[in-house]
Amino acid sequence: RAAYQAKSLALSDAMTQACDFYRNQLRSAPTAIAYLKGRGLTGEIAARFGLGYAPEGWDSLRAVFPDYEQSALAEAGLVIDKSDEEGHHRKRYDRFRERIMFPIRNTKGQVIGFGGRVMGEGEPKYLNSPETPLFQKGSELYGLFEARQAIRDAGYALVTEGYMDVVALAQLGFPQVVATLGTACTPTHVQKLLRQTDHVIFSFDGDKAGRRAARRALDASLPHASDNKTIKFLFLPTEHDPDSYIRERGSDAFEQQVREAMPLSQFLLNEVTADNNLSSSEDRARAQFDAKPLLQAMPPSALRLQIVRSLAQLTQTTPAEIESLFELSKPIAR
Ligand code: UTP
Ligand code: MN
Ligand code: MN
Ligand code: MN
Ligand code: MN
Repeated sequence: RAAYQAKSLALSDAMTQACDFYRNQLRSAPTAIAYLKGRGLTGEIAARFGLGYAPEGWDSLRAVFPDYEQSALAEAGLVIDKSDEEGHHRKRYDRFRERIMFPIRNTKGQVIGFGGRVMGEGEPKYLNSPETPLFQKGSELYGLFEARQAIRDAGYALVTEGYMDVVALAQLGFPQVVATLGTACTPTHVQKLLRQTDHVIFSFDGDKAGRRAARRALDASLPHASDNKTIKFLFLPTEHDPDSYIRERGSDAFEQQVREAMPLSQFLLNEVTADNNLSSSEDRARAQFDAKPLLQAMPPSALRLQIVRSLAQLTQTTPAEIESLFELSKPIAR
C-alpha cells in the first residue's frame, strides 16, 4: 500500500510537469495557436483548460525529465518503450508529438491523462493516455474539474463525446459541460455525475456513432434513474456535434436544444418502438420483449411505474400484466 502510494505520487508529478511543459510550448508554436484560433478558441478558454502543444521531435520531454529513462515516464504513458522482436527493450520515445494537448484532470484538479489532437488530418485524430493507476477512462469525465461550480450554478450538467465539444460549449456560455473520454458512458460516469447534480443532459454527436452513444448512455443511466433525478437526451441534426452546432447556429439555438431535450422515459419508449408500428400482436410483443431488460434495469420508482403505464397503453396490456410478465415486483438481482 505504501509502495503504491509512492508510485502514484511520482506519476502525478510527471503528469504535472509534462502539462506545464506542453502549456509553455504552445506559446512559442504559431501553427498550434493558428489551429486553435481557426477552431474559434480564444486564448482565455485555452488557458482555462490548460491546453498545450507537444512539439515535434522524438524526445522533447528530455528537456523536462533529464532522467528520461525513469520508469515513471512509461507508467504515466508519456513515453513509449520500443522492443525488438525478442522483446528486449530497444529505446523509448515521446508518445505525444506535434499534437494539441488537452490535459485531463481528476476532481482534485490533478492532471491524470492527456488527449492529443493532430492538427488537421492524420491518424489517430486523438491520441489518448493509456490507463494508468491514476487514470481509468470508464470513471473519469473530461472537464468535470473545470465544470463543477458551473454545474451547481446551472442546476444541470451537459455530457458530450469530445474534448472540443467541452471547450466550445464552455466558451460560448455553457461551462456546465463534460465529456466521456472516447469510451461509452458507463454507470460509474452516471453515478459520478449524479453526485454533482440532479439533472443530466446527454448531448452526443448527431451521427450514427452519437446515436449509439446515446443508447449506451440510456443503458448506463437506468440503474441510477430515480424520481428525484432528471436525465435527458439532446439530439442534434446528423451533420453536427455540439461544437459545430453552437458555432454555426449560436448559443440561443443551443439553449433551445437544451430546453427541448428528450426525457429518459420518452427515449426509452422510442427505442423499444423504433421501426415498430405496433400494429400486430407480434409487433406489440416485440416491443415488450425489447422493453423488458430496460425496465428490469431500473430500480422500483414512480418513474418506472409511469413508463410501465405508457408501455401498457402502447402494447394494449395493463400495467399489472407488464409488471408480472417482467417480474418487476421481484427484488433486483445485484
Ligand atoms: P469525434 O470524432 O466526434 O471527434 O470523436 P470530435 O470530438 O468532434 O473532435 P474534432 O471536432 O474533430 O476535433 C469524439 C471523441 O472520441 C474520442 C475523443 O475523445 C473525441 O473527442 N476519439 C475520437 C479518440 O479518442 N480518438 C480518435 O481518434 C477519435
Ligand atoms: Mn435541477
Ligand atoms: Mn463523432
Ligand atoms: Mn464530434
Ligand atoms: Mn467535433
